[in-house]
Amino acid sequence: MLIKKEAKKKSVKVTLAKTKSVSKPVLPVKPAVALNLVRGMKDIIPPQGDLWLRMTQTAIDIATAYDFHYFETPVVEATSLFVRSLGRGTDVIDKEMYAFEDRDGGKICLRPEMTASVARSYIMQGMQTLSQPVKLWNIGPLFRYDRPQAGRYREFHQFDCETIGESAPVIDAELIAVAYNYLRDLGLTVTVRINSLGTPTDRANYLVELTGFLRGKRGYLCDDCKKRLLKNPLRVLDCKVDGCSAVVAEAPQIVDWLSETSKTFFMSVLEYLDELAIPYVLTPTLVRGLDYYTHTVFELFEDKHNETAQSALGGGGRYDLLIEQLGGQPTPASGFAIGMERVMHAVQALPNLEPQKISSKPIIFFAHLGEQARRRVLKTIEELRQNGIVVRHNLAKSSLKAQLELANKYNATHTLILGQKEVQDGTVLVRNMESGIQEIVDQNKIRQTIVKILAS
Ligand code: HAM
Repeated sequence: MLIKKEAKKKSVKVTLAKTKSVSKPVLPVKPAVALNLVRGMKDIIPPQGDLWLRMTQTAIDIATAYDFHYFETPVVEATSLFVRSLGRGTDVIDKEMYAFEDRDGGKICLRPEMTASVARSYIMQGMQTLSQPVKLWNIGPLFRYDRPQAGRYREFHQFDCETIGESAPVIDAELIAVAYNYLRDLGLTVTVRINSLGTPTDRANYLVELTGFLRGKRGYLCDDCKKRLLKNPLRVLDCKVDGCSAVVAEAPQIVDWLSETSKTFFMSVLEYLDELAIPYVLTPTLVRGLDYYTHTVFELFEDKHNETAQSALGGGGRYDLLIEQLGGQPTPASGFAIGMERVMHAVQALPNLEPQKISSKPIIFFAHLGEQARRRVLKTIEELRQNGIVVRHNLAKSSLKAQLELANKYNATHTLILGQKEVQDGTVLVRNMESGIQEIVDQNKIRQTIVKILAS
């Protein structure tokens, strides 16, 4: 039976209780304790916390669908692992490491990225004996002593995927597809920027040419790039200072120095992307900030953002030599990492992001009126949970009006209402919050009713 009620969504009037003036007892003044967040760190609180959970669930769903398996490695690692993997002359190693001496004098650090840790773990745990490729994924915290700004923190999190033990170009395309589709599933429109760094021989030949060119333009480079020219000239291509960008625009491009084999490999990756209709832009200046890459390198940018490297939502590439460099067998590998905080900011800035979109399912609220109903709701919540159904509720509130306001605040699509009459009748009211239409349902059919709503 359908009962049309007048009350529609958002029509619940809120009457604020009048505050009574009560004379407060005078308490002794305690010395203030300064509460500070360490610079570059942040809290994630509701409703961002709910969005964070949805981003995590989306990562679990896509990683599982592409047959990646979950891994954990410690946040604390030996400093030398990253120095050997990422290379001196990179910003992460030279400026951003959280490196310490342990109490026993050991040189340790908070990991600045996961790829080197995964490579270490692959070697140490004998993962080469597993069926190859080994496909691993994780979401975890990383630490870089960077200058904090929008989307740049000193503690941040990455959704990281690595495919180890396979050299086929299709693996690079699959990883790009996972990263791209992950962002798309969260409602973001992104473009992939892609380049090839070829083999170390290709790169050495290119570096001779690039260094010669940059020396001729030294006077136009910023002070940092003058140093980079000596230590790691490829990094000059990354520089965002205007004068340097102008020089870089004229510089020789690495694609012209790739061997035939490297070119064929790169073309093959691009053909797969064409097949998948993944939008990409060939970006000759894309060299990435870490030294371990060979062949494919890529970054993902939200379409509406302007073209600064800081707004990359994620990046990755092939690192065929890293495992061997760290003492393992020659093992090709490729991977990517997406910055969770940057994705969260981008999703929050989407037009029309309504709170309920933070959860991927319709939200159901369960309201009660009276003590008996409260007890029944408490019991039913657990019965529903055991059947995989989650309902919002607030058992501490007694007024139905207050609970309906809360349901509106949560953007609940439906509210179940259990009053004294319904407790006696063995029924429950199911109210559509948009239309205000209420339906009387048998209490034994609550689960089926919710399943139907969730599927709609
Ligand atoms: P990355 O480009 O250094 O690559 O970092 C990947 C993503 O992490 C960036 O695109 C960005 O979204 C996020 N990110 C980096 N630094 C910060 C920061 N300070 N604050 C907030 N977000 C940040 C890597 O880390 C490689 N390990 C990726 C990879 C995996 N390559 C192969 N496998």
